[in-house]
Amino acid sequence: MFVVDTPLQGGNDMPQCFDFKADGTVHREHLTAEHQQTPINIIKNNDRGGYTVPTNRLYPYQWNWDSGFTALGIWHFSKWRAWLEITSLLGAQWEDGMVPHIIFRRNDPDYFPGPDVWKTNTQPPTSGHSQPPVLASIVLQMVRMGSNYDKKKAKQIFSRLMSYHRWFATNRDPLGTGIIGIIHPWESGRDNCPDWDIGLKSVDVPDDLMHYQRRDTSHVDVNQRPTQEQYDKFIAIVEFGQKAGWNHKLIHNDGPFLMADPGVQFIFLRANKDLFELAQLLDFTDELKEIQDWIELLTKGCEWLWNDSIGSYCARDIKSGTFSNATTNASMLSFFAGAGSKVQKESMAHHCNRILSACSYGMPSWDPQHEEFESKRYWRGPVWLVMNHMIAIGLQDSGESGLAERIRNDTYRLVENNGMAEYFDPLDGTGLGGMNFSWTAAIYLNQCNDEVANTLDTTQ
Ligand code: GLC
Repeated sequence: MFVVDTPLQGGNDMPQCFDFKADGTVHREHLTAEHQQTPINIIKNNDRGGYTVPTNRLYPYQWNWDSGFTALGIWHFSKWRAWLEITSLLGAQWEDGMVPHIIFRRNDPDYFPGPDVWKTNTQPPTSGHSQPPVLASIVLQMVRMGSNYDKKKAKQIFSRLMSYHRWFATNRDPLGTGIIGIIHPWESGRDNCPDWDIGLKSVDVPDDLMHYQRRDTSHVDVNQRPTQEQYDKFIAIVEFGQKAGWNHKLIHNDGPFLMADPGVQFIFLRANKDLFELAQLLDFTDELKEIQDWIELLTKGCEWLWNDSIGSYCARDIKSGTFSNATTNASMLSFFAGAGSKVQKESMAHHCNRILSACSYGMPSWDPQHEEFESKRYWRGPVWLVMNHMIAIGLQDSGESGLAERIRNDTYRLVENNGMAEYFDPLDGTGLGGMNFSWTAAIYLNQCNDEVANTLDTTQ
């Protein structure tokens, strides 16, 4: 376990490491190691010995994509510990290749739904579905930034990344359509987004649904959390999976919920492109063809998520074909995936500009000009920095460097004025949900270090 060697600073006392000029651009001269101490301390404080919890109490276990992003932050101050974060996560991989969304390493009665509800019969106990597969992209970034040590570490886990992707490709798209179907809103990582209201409509809550007591609302304001009606439906889907013995094919065919999520679709497409590059860098040439096939299929599948009526990528119910009609921060990941024609990309850039003009801090999780926008409720408006991280990379890769810069600046401003919160109000920047959050600290740390590297590059 890490030793916290300096006292924790409150998030709001954080020193400003950037000076913002009136036009929104940033002075980069103030980047120093001293400014990185707060995020480092937060991550160390959330370390539970080999894995990091998202935040104390509210999320007391290891979460899949949280650990991926957290590893990226840790990498900047401890390489071996960053790799341990990833290998401990992969240590919970199921025999069929799935990397579960939560790993319950020790029982914590303060969290619901815990291992007794999921009943996956795995060691260690885990939840029964996955989360956005960001790992290959994170690993590639660590290899690109790193040395032979990082290459060696990546080689050791490459086959596990392959089997994780193979699991996603075959179990979340068993018919080979190129469209990834998520079986629970929680699999999207955007748990309470209005996108899922479409699929949840047809989820019946059985009269004999298990009796349970929520824990989330005892840690966080109820107005920032899902409603009771939604929560019952979330639990009904879990109960279906548990009764189906977590047989993924059965759940995909007969389960109560199946939706296409632009977030998971684009993250998986990008992850496959990154896995392809990783395979080349690490000399896994036999795997290239299989990965290339996934890339081609997923690229085609993206077309099904294009909602022509609003000129944007949207979530879509696989059972009924019904589209969501809102542009979200997941829609904006189309840049990260490199998806779409020239015209589609222009349309997405137009939405990006419009949405950023309508709020003080991007990128909101729901269109602020849409009637269902709620600036403080979980995934129905607030900003998440992990999404900002991927969106900024995508925009930069697509030549939209002005928009990428705006997103990165908003990330700095949010953290430096409001602390390392779980998520933020896009209108006034208020930090919401849990505080001292690992992935928020990690993204900030990674972005600062990127900036340092870029500053050095330009002065050389
Ligand atoms: C919430 C988020 C999910 C995240 C988890 C832990 O459930 O919606 O994306 O992984 O919290 O931070």
